[in-house]
Amino acid sequence: MEGKKRFRICRVDKAECAECGFCTRAVDCPDTKNCVGCMACYFACPFGARKIFHDTRSRGQISIEVDGREYKVPERVTIKKALEICGFTFGYTRDEGDITAPCSTGGCYSCAISVDGKAARPCISGVKGGMKILTRPPKGYVPLRIVHGPQPHMVGGKGTPWWIKMGEDYIEVAMWTAGCNMRCPQCQNYTTTYDSKTPPMTPFEAARGMTEARRYYGVDRMAISGGEPTLNRPWLVEFLKELKRLNPDRDARLHLDSNGTVLTRDYLDELILASGVTDIGIEPKAVRVSTFMRITGLSDKKLAARFLKTSWDAVDYVATRYKEKVFLGVGLPYNSALIGLDEVRQFGSKLAKIDRDAQLCVLDYFPAFRRQDLERPHPEEMLKVKRLLEKTGLTTVVVQTSIGHFGPDKNGPKKVF
Ligand code: FES
Repeated sequence: MEGKKRFRICRVDKAECAECGFCTRAVDCPDTKNCVGCMACYFACPFGARKIFHDTRSRGQISIEVDGREYKVPERVTIKKALEICGFTFGYTRDEGDITAPCSTGGCYSCAISVDGKAARPCISGVKGGMKILTRPPKGYVPLRIVHGPQPHMVGGKGTPWWIKMGEDYIEVAMWTAGCNMRCPQCQNYTTTYDSKTPPMTPFEAARGMTEARRYYGVDRMAISGGEPTLNRPWLVEFLKELKRLNPDRDARLHLDSNGTVLTRDYLDELILASGVTDIGIEPKAVRVSTFMRITGLSDKKLAARFLKTSWDAVDYVATRYKEKVFLGVGLPYNSALIGLDEVRQFGSKLAKIDRDAQLCVLDYFPAFRRQDLERPHPEEMLKVKRLLEKTGLTTVVVQTSIGHFGPDKNGPKKVF
């Protein structure tokens, strides 16, 4: 007998709902009447007004075909859950599990498989009796991903060299990918991260759009950020290759900003050597696993430890293996409610040991998403953080403040924007 606690559904708590409409506007709900428990709206709600319940109603069994074999699964579950019941596994990267499903909120399309001959996202699609499922995409499938932008940018991201962050003109065009493997309560870009409704783009459509934007705004830098852009590896690799093909000139800069959590060495090699990435921003966010979990909202300690390690390893690998070839920027989110000064110092020392000249960009985290209670750090506090980090031996500390960015200067902090 199926344990009733196995099935979770989500309902809105009207007392906490602010009626912002984000869940209906952005989330591609598989069944608005009979929740299938995908939890995409639960993760997306900026007010935490979506609550999880154990569904104790009885469920019938339905028949589905998976890779040519017949299975019986419960009704009113996602295809992902149905496949798990059939014994298939899901992982965060292509090297683990039968299917990659790192965001599980419908934005990244990494999980795309074939359902009745068409591409579908099992993480946010409900299972139906008689479905014919293949645990791979349909024949001829071109990778898809939900992407926002392109838009011009005056400051860029953590992987943008500080000396061009002048704030007087556009310096980059950027796109932002939906879907993330983190659940940061203070997500600074949640409207992109949790979007599962915008029609997805192929890598070729996105690269064309970015190239047109580059020409229109007269810039050389083209950036991709998120959400987490590295989640759908085939999409990202194709996108960058096409972008390089459309922008073969030496001035073109291909900039990737990432949390670094799935950036293994072979992935970095592929991005840099085969796909032409010239600038990389990586944000390990913390040194201690407990802090990383607080910032990212991850509750699985083992997974958090693995992500944190992969991110720091990625910093180390790019700094040592690709020092001459790639511009590296490291990101550190700062807010005293998230990370203490002691750990900020540890972060600086750890980075200085890897490369004292690496650019460290400290971002003053402001109230956002579910952490409206945060107070944006005062510029003086950010300058104090900057001095503390410089004392660890780092030569290139940039801090973002409410009055602009401050870059390195041997005569004292200099506002560059
Ligand atoms: S894991 Fe299904 S869309 Fe990201």
